[in-house]
Amino acid sequence: MGRKGFSAAGLTLGFSLFFMVARTAFGDVSYSFPEEMKRGSVIGNIAKDLGLDVNRLSARKARIDTEGNRKRYGDINVNTGELTVAERIDREGLCGKKASCILKHELVLENPLEIHKIMLSIEDINDNSPRFKIDLIEIEIAESAYKGAVFLLDEAVDADIGQNSVHSYSLQTNEHFVLNVRSSMDGGKYSELVLEKELDREQQQELTLVLTAVDGGTPPRSGTVAIHVTVLDANDNAPVFSQSVYKVSLPENSPLDTVVVTVSATDADEGQNGKVTYALGQGSERVEELFSLHKDGGEITVKSLVDFEEETTFELKVLAKDGSGLKSYCKVIIQITDVNDNAPIIVLKSLNNPLSENALPGTEVGIINVQDRDSENMGRVQCSVQQNIPFELVPSLKNYFSLVTTSELDRELVSDYNITITATDEGSPALSSSKTIHLSVADVNDNPPVFEEQVYSAHVKENNKPGSSVCTVAATDLDWRQNGTVVYSLLPFDVSGAPVSSFVSINGDTGVIHAVRSFDYEQLKSFKVLVLARDNGSPPLSSNVTVSVFISDENDNSPQILYPSPEGNSFMTEMVPKAAQSGSLVSKVIAVDADSGQNAWLSYHIVKATDPGLFTIGEHSGEIRTQRDISESDSTKQNLIVSVKDNGQPSLSATCAVYLLISDNLAEIPELKDMSYDESSSKLTFYLIIALVSVSTFFLTFIIIILAVRFCHRRKPRLLFDGAVAIPSAYLPPNYAEVEGTGTLRSTYNYDAYLTTGSRTSDFKFITSYNEGGTLPADLTVKKTRTSVDDLERLVISVNDSQV
Ligand SMILES: *[C@@H]1O[C@H](CO)[C@@H](O)[C@H](O)[C@H]1NC(C)=O
Ligand SMILES: *[C@@H]1O[C@H](CO)[C@@H](O)[C@H](O)[C@H]1NC(C)=O
Ligand SMILES: *[C@@H]1O[C@H](CO)[C@@H](O)[C@H](O)[C@H]1NC(C)=O
Repeated sequence: MGRKGFSAAGLTLGFSLFFMVARTAFGDVSYSFPEEMKRGSVIGNIAKDLGLDVNRLSARKARIDTEGNRKRYGDINVNTGELTVAERIDREGLCGKKASCILKHELVLENPLEIHKIMLSIEDINDNSPRFKIDLIEIEIAESAYKGAVFLLDEAVDADIGQNSVHSYSLQTNEHFVLNVRSSMDGGKYSELVLEKELDREQQQELTLVLTAVDGGTPPRSGTVAIHVTVLDANDNAPVFSQSVYKVSLPENSPLDTVVVTVSATDADEGQNGKVTYALGQGSERVEELFSLHKDGGEITVKSLVDFEEETTFELKVLAKDGSGLKSYCKVIIQITDVNDNAPIIVLKSLNNPLSENALPGTEVGIINVQDRDSENMGRVQCSVQQNIPFELVPSLKNYFSLVTTSELDRELVSDYNITITATDEGSPALSSSKTIHLSVADVNDNPPVFEEQVYSAHVKENNKPGSSVCTVAATDLDWRQNGTVVYSLLPFDVSGAPVSSFVSINGDTGVIHAVRSFDYEQLKSFKVLVLARDNGSPPLSSNVTVSVFISDENDNSPQILYPSPEGNSFMTEMVPKAAQSGSLVSKVIAVDADSGQNAWLSYHIVKATDPGLFTIGEHSGEIRTQRDISESDSTKQNLIVSVKDNGQPSLSATCAVYLLISDNLAEIPELKDMSYDESSSKLTFYLIIALVSVSTFFLTFIIIILAVRFCHRRKPRLLFDGAVAIPSAYLPPNYAEVEGTGTLRSTYNYDAYLTTGSRTSDFKFITSYNEGGTLPADLTVKKTRTSVDDLERLVISVNDSQV
């Protein structure tokens, strides 16, 4: 509104100016004075200048007025007619950059109205300093900028005009730039920075300069501004490694992704120009399998396990490159250090298997080689075998060991060994490995066969079947196979003059001893056999053992009646005195049994008698006694059938007839002869007749002797019989039963018995020898009756012979 008003007033002013110009072509006044004068300062005496009466000024209401409603800067002192400054006058504020600044006022006088134009020309004073529009001038200059490059700077402004405006510039002294001040088309001044010395961002990244603008006033005023120069980077630096050679050591088998080393290169440039990337150089194919290089960080890491035993050093060429392709190289030497990762390897170079058991202590059995791929201590190996075996390892040449025996071996105790060889290196922790060698011990024939028993005794029943087994011997031999295979044989040995092989044989494989023949206890009671056990080794070893064969008795012999002759062959008659009293001994049956023991224990029984109540027989003595006194009524001829039984199972028996004649008279003997003749066999031969005659003769003599004796000892009628029967009493069963009795008589009777049973061939000799050395006991009774007994025997022999 104010402004609108102002411009309307301007129009009015224009009209009035036109109008006033005409009127005031005379009477205008102008004053020129500097701005910023104090209020009340006197500009000039307008009354005087216009030729007005000072005294009337007040009366004419003289006043200063402006065109329109403009601000009034001047005032009039009506007393003195002086024009004074009414308001502060700022030229720059009123007129800006205009070269002349004129304020138009009017002096109005009334009565009569008089109007005088007053032109107030305001002069500039240097009251403003040059000023830059901004506080800081920022300039970016590439470090690659050449010398002489020009950089325009902002212009400073100064509100004052003319001489008081910007007159020149100056730059703070520096080594890179100088200032070039130029005038612009409108007369202003501006400046330029001129590069005097090239920049290096890597040395100085920025610099700050002070630019001063100075005006031409007196005194001059100035204004400053800071110039901040940022040096822009250019890729003028290649990356530089912190070390040209990186030397590191890495234990082998380091885990994957272990950082081996970090290479680092720096590039003085900035941004992309300074961004370094790394790469492996040419010729690193092998290395690239094992290591990887981090493109940005420069860490070299383990990509796959590294084995010291394969390669100990790696050389890598590492390339560093900045964003614009400037490069440099460095070398990385990776020294691999050994780790004890290889267990020793045991190699059996030779083995003497099987090893003979008679190898002497110290015999070399095998050669062992030990290898450890690790280095130094980790590859140094100790080797040993387990305790408690008779082997040890003896170090030989480097890494070689001999396996030797430390003591004698015995296959029969330990036939094979598992020798465990343990190899341990000296690493920390130590690694070890082991290998087991199986070693067999070969046999040597060093053990003879050994019989299971020291002495064998066998009991065989007589009358065994030829070929039946007698006993079994067994020998064992600890050796192996044929060295331990036992073969049995009989050692040549004589049994009663005959080779032992005619008695027994042995199965060479089984050791079963067989009877070759049937044994007869009565011939041979025992014998010894020497059995040899021999192995099949070469040379063979042997041992022997004695087998005692005992033949046991069987009841295979019937009692043999010696007296009286067995039934059928007897024609002997005992005389029984008529006066014989009860209990008188009238005769005695004598029998023997070739068997022994129970088998030869004889018992006597009367099985048939003419007069059963008259005679008894002692069950074991065989003595026939009267049971009661003989009476006249008793028949003179008494016949007894006596049975003799042994005690065997089953028992065997023999019978005989005893003819008794109750008579005191020898004249009755012919009857006896008849009687015996009646009963004699019809088969009697000529020899028998002769024998009978002889016997008759003998009997006659005998009876005569008996009678004679009886005559002499009438009062002791039993004596005859006592004496006569005394002979067989030595053979009563209890004595006879003794197996080892020394009685030669018994032997003699055995002899007789054999004769009577008809065994007269080879056995004869044997029996003879069996009786050899026997001694006759000094038995008076025997001697006394020797002759008669012999005669009896002879009689029996002849009878038997004739029967055969
Ligand atoms: C040796 O080892 C084998 C097999 O490992 C085994 O059969 C045998 O009994 C062992 N021998 C000894 C004497 O330990
Ligand atoms: C038996 O022993 C001999 C040495 O006495 C030896 O040479 C042979 O090999 C052995 N036989 C067997 C089967 O072991
Ligand atoms: C039987 O063995 C003994 C030792 O046991 C020995 O002295 C003797 O010579 C051996 N006899 C034969 C015939 O081998």
